[in-house]
Amino acid sequence: MWQTIKLKTRKVTCFQTGCVLFNPALSSCRSRLNASREVAPVSLPNCRLIKGIETGSEDIDILPNGLAFISSGLKYPGIKSFAPDKPGEIFLMDLNEDNPRAVELRISRGFDLASFNPHGISTYIDRDDTVYLFVVNHPHQKSTVELFKFVEDDNSLVHLKTIRHDLLTSVNDVVAMGPDSFYATNDHYFSDFLLMFLEMFLGLTWSNVVYYSPKEVKEVASGFYSANGINISPDRKYIYIADVLDHNVYVMEKHANWSLTHVKTLQLDTLVDNLSVDPHTGDIWIGCHPNGMKLFYYDPENLPASEVLRIQNILSEQPVVTRVYSDNGSVLQGSSVASIYQGKLLIGTVFHRALYCHL
Ligand SMILES: *[C@@H]1O[C@H](CO)[C@@H](O)[C@H](O)[C@H]1NC(C)=O
Ligand SMILES: *[C@@H]1O[C@H](CO)[C@@H](O)[C@H](O)[C@H]1NC(C)=O
Repeated sequence: MWQTIKLKTRKVTCFQTGCVLFNPALSSCRSRLNASREVAPVSLPNCRLIKGIETGSEDIDILPNGLAFISSGLKYPGIKSFAPDKPGEIFLMDLNEDNPRAVELRISRGFDLASFNPHGISTYIDRDDTVYLFVVNHPHQKSTVELFKFVEDDNSLVHLKTIRHDLLTSVNDVVAMGPDSFYATNDHYFSDFLLMFLEMFLGLTWSNVVYYSPKEVKEVASGFYSANGINISPDRKYIYIADVLDHNVYVMEKHANWSLTHVKTLQLDTLVDNLSVDPHTGDIWIGCHPNGMKLFYYDPENLPASEVLRIQNILSEQPVVTRVYSDNGSVLQGSSVASIYQGKLLIGTVFHRALYCHL
């Protein structure tokens, strides 16, 4: 272990306390968390906070018909929660309405709601138009993927099954590939909080991406500091993966046997969290944390900021990166996702509120 530390000092990344212990690595550590970055505001004229969402809107997925699913209430080791005792929820918002409201979806009986702790989500529409919702869940600090069927008439989710696997250790996000298959990111190798802390502190690149189907489960990409958001291009040929601690987006080509090969990496100056893809233009929208230190060390006097980036033409020689929105935390703290539907933008956060904007 100490050997590892020596080899890796250049890349050490950690929380502040760890940085102090490893003084020589302080600057690289702070840079992994982008600790000195302050954001210049970029405002959008027509935004409002969404009523009823006060404790996070971690991930958002919008169906082609404009129904948006929002996961809320994540409790995650080391991350602030405004409602530590309240179970998580899934909200639905119909973006076709003039004044859309977030409505909590009812979840069928037989599912343990008390320990529901939703994280990344993804939808899949089957040939018969059934809508499946995959939800990363952390009941009792574990990682599972819950599969639900969405019943629109009834504003409810019917629980179909709980997926657990030895390779699904510390799941952050999923992107559905079929009615019971998906790619998942493991944001850490370890699932135990102390080991997870150590992993981040040492700057180990042991985070990976796993393909899951009932027939086959395998690692398809590895070597990330912390693989986070994952999504797919509209033509379903490429998978995009955000490495939150390496400040970049990986483009991977998907093959018939579900393996992934690296195409390119786009480096950014911010901690990239969830990725969403505009199905019409292929643009990637990202909820980002400009400064990770402020996110991990929640201080009401020095709030974590929000930042939304749009990436156009990621496969071209010259992708265009635009800062669409940025706020110092006075309106929205810790943006983790931005999702677009016909000129309407939803911006979600790890533990704070959610913003609805007309572009
Ligand atoms: C969404 O954002 C949260 C906030 O950190 C992140 O932890 C999670 O991995 C992201 N989920 C997806 C689906 O990308
Ligand atoms: C945050 O931004 C708002 C408006 O952009 C400004 O009024 C406020 O003073 C800023 N707060 C801090 C702490 O910089």
